[in-house]
Amino acid sequence: MQQVLAFDVYGTLINTDGLTRQLATVLGDRAPAFSKQWRERQLEYSFRRALMGDYVPFRVCTAQALEQTSQSFGVTFSADFIADLLAQYRRLPAYSDVIEGLGAAAKVGYRCVAFSNGDPESLDELLESAGLRTHLSAVISVDPVRSFKPDPKVYHYLLEQVQAPADQTCMVSSNPFDVLGAAHAGLQTAWVARSPQAVFDPWGVEPTWQVRDLQQLAVTLGSGER
Ligand code: LAC
Repeated sequence: MQQVLAFDVYGTLINTDGLTRQLATVLGDRAPAFSKQWRERQLEYSFRRALMGDYVPFRVCTAQALEQTSQSFGVTFSADFIADLLAQYRRLPAYSDVIEGLGAAAKVGYRCVAFSNGDPESLDELLESAGLRTHLSAVISVDPVRSFKPDPKVYHYLLEQVQAPADQTCMVSSNPFDVLGAAHAGLQTAWVARSPQAVFDPWGVEPTWQVRDLQQLAVTLGSGER
């Protein structure tokens, strides 16, 4: 059976700090901190909603996190600027290693799919505009499960969709919570630590593989290393 690589999208294939320049037109040198908090709040909202059983599409978490972050930074964006930011969020850029990495992973025999908290419409637009759609054999959203990572239900749904057993399916993510969530559901995992400063959660569980980028992932998997 062909082994599956399930790639996380936001933060792994797609750079969620891709709007920093646009934010800087209003926030100046506070833009990187704003972008970081916006992302952290977006994830926190998804965790809380999964725990509460109060699902909304991920784009709502993104919009509400933007509003909360603006308030906490004491800035008021115009309605047009907000609409534009949220539209641009659906066209964020891919990291520079991604297209070649996906190609290399397919070449060493893996079936590459995307698996994300994102809602289907946002994912389609995002992956298409970043030029990644043709490199992925499927795009799987948590949306039909009405929950978010790291709820075990969403990883079980992924396995159903790819019709592969957990030990033949590897979740590839830069987000440690996603790696731990997938490992908890029994999947193989690869942690993509692009920055030397990235820290993995000390929960006593290690990713199956740790790599710097997707090209290194393809080389590692192709050589059969652990
Ligand atoms: C995703 C979140 C984790 O793409 O960023 O699923």
